[in-house]
Amino acid sequence: MPIIDTRPIVLTGDRTTGPLHLGHYVGSLKSRLVLQDDHRQFILLADAQALTDNADDPGRVGRNIMEVALDYLAVGIDPEKSVICVQSCLPALCELTMLFLNYVTVSRLERNPTVKQEIVQRGFQRDIPAGFLCYPVAQAADITAFKAAVVPVGEDQLPMIEQSNEIVRRLNRQAGREVLPEARALISSVGRLPGIDGRSKMSKSAGNAIALSATPAQIAEAVQGMFTDPDHLRVSDPGRVEGNVVFTYLDAFDENHDEIEELKAHYRRGGLGDAALKRRLDDCLQALLGPIRERRAEFARRPDFVMDVLRAGTGRASKVTETTLDEVKSALGMFGLRQA
Ligand code: TRP
Repeated sequence: MPIIDTRPIVLTGDRTTGPLHLGHYVGSLKSRLVLQDDHRQFILLADAQALTDNADDPGRVGRNIMEVALDYLAVGIDPEKSVICVQSCLPALCELTMLFLNYVTVSRLERNPTVKQEIVQRGFQRDIPAGFLCYPVAQAADITAFKAAVVPVGEDQLPMIEQSNEIVRRLNRQAGREVLPEARALISSVGRLPGIDGRSKMSKSAGNAIALSATPAQIAEAVQGMFTDPDHLRVSDPGRVEGNVVFTYLDAFDENHDEIEELKAHYRRGGLGDAALKRRLDDCLQALLGPIRERRAEFARRPDFVMDVLRAGTGRASKVTETTLDEVKSALGMFGLRQA
């Protein structure tokens, strides 16, 4: 008799557009490491979603599946505990998306604040790919196909969870019973990490990121170039801590919070230079990323193992998502060829 797994189900995903960076680490990877111990965790390599705004470079989206998988393994996502799977290899997700599209209006999709913002950022103007406008529906399919109870995400993803839950309620009403559960967002306590320029959130496309796979020299260079307080010209000048990226990162990565508070007071008073602060942050990030980089290199030497992880994970995810699809179709009273 198989023991029924009653652990709450968690689903997260990452678009496979490039290797992951420190923003991903504080925003979600760290919490996934904790969640995998007492949740049933599914992690989606969201290549199909990545295509919605990278249709001109599908090769890049494909190649980065391996990069992101290596990042997962390097930080300690354990394939024995978490299921790592490839979105585009799970056809049930597409089928659910097609069904769900009938329970969402175009105007509702156009109101999604995150999508609205992304349309501006990407300069689509009037030429919005239909797949892009609809990706929140596909994400609802991701979330519900696994029957996720918890979705750990950044704040920008809240509208996606809301949209997903709306679809769930609409569908359950249609079916006359609760076929799909609603999901709850789990927002990281750290909030989003700014990029090294301090101007926007860390992202590869903004060129302000530190990759988890960064070399020691790349880390040092990023810390050197980090935005501090432009008015803090001499060491003796009082400096500003708010908006000072070096302090934001020290808050996020340096475990010794008391010492950081003392450094902040010292910086505000004057007499503490940026160079000393940056040295401390550099040490801290080198210590964090060194072992991750080494483990990543080890896994990179075993591509067959990584492929096995993806095949096994996608196989398990396939069973779960196909089952949900069957349940939804039959709950809606749709036609099926299979005999009962
Ligand atoms: N939209 C998410 C992002 O851009 C990635 C993603 C795809 C996702 N499917 C998901 C996140 C399902 C949570 C659950 O980061």
